[in-house]
Formats: sequence, C-alpha cells, structure tokens
Amino acid sequence: MSTPKRTQPYRLDVKKEETVQICICGQTDSPPLCDCSHPDHTDPFEFTPEKDETLTICGCGRSDALPWCDGSHTEC
Ligand code: FES
Repeated sequence: MSTPKRTQPYRLDVKKEETVQICICGQTDSPPLCDCSHPDHTDPFEFTPEKDETLTICGCGRSDALPWCDGSHTEC
C-alpha cells in the first residue's frame, strides 16, 4: 500500500550537514522521510544541506523536479 498523495508540499527543517533520506517510492509510513519500506531497487534520495534550512518536498507526486516541489500542485 502506498502513502496517500497530498495536495501540498511537506516542509522539513534540516540542520547543516545532517543527511536526510527522502522517500521517493511512496511506501513510507513517515513521509516525507524514508522508513526503509522501499523495494530493493528503489533507494531513497539522500540530501545533505550546506546550511540550516527548510526544505520544500513534493507531496503530490506531480513535480518535474522530484523530490522537490516545483509548484505543480497548484495546476488544475
Ligand atoms: S507538492 Fe507536488 S509540486 Fe508541490
């Protein structure tokens, strides 16, 4: 069972040089982060910020810049 799609992005506060694993398979129970529910052939997207920041991660699955939100969720 996959995680239901949202109509808004996730906002995730991250710390400088703290690597996060972002789910790209849709199987996680703790979106937007990976909980290792993915199939063997689908690794999470790893990101290590260069500074403390808030990430904007796609929750709708329609972004052309996955895993980041590109504003596509606002299109009808
Ligand atoms: S939430 Fe998917 S493009 Fe913004």
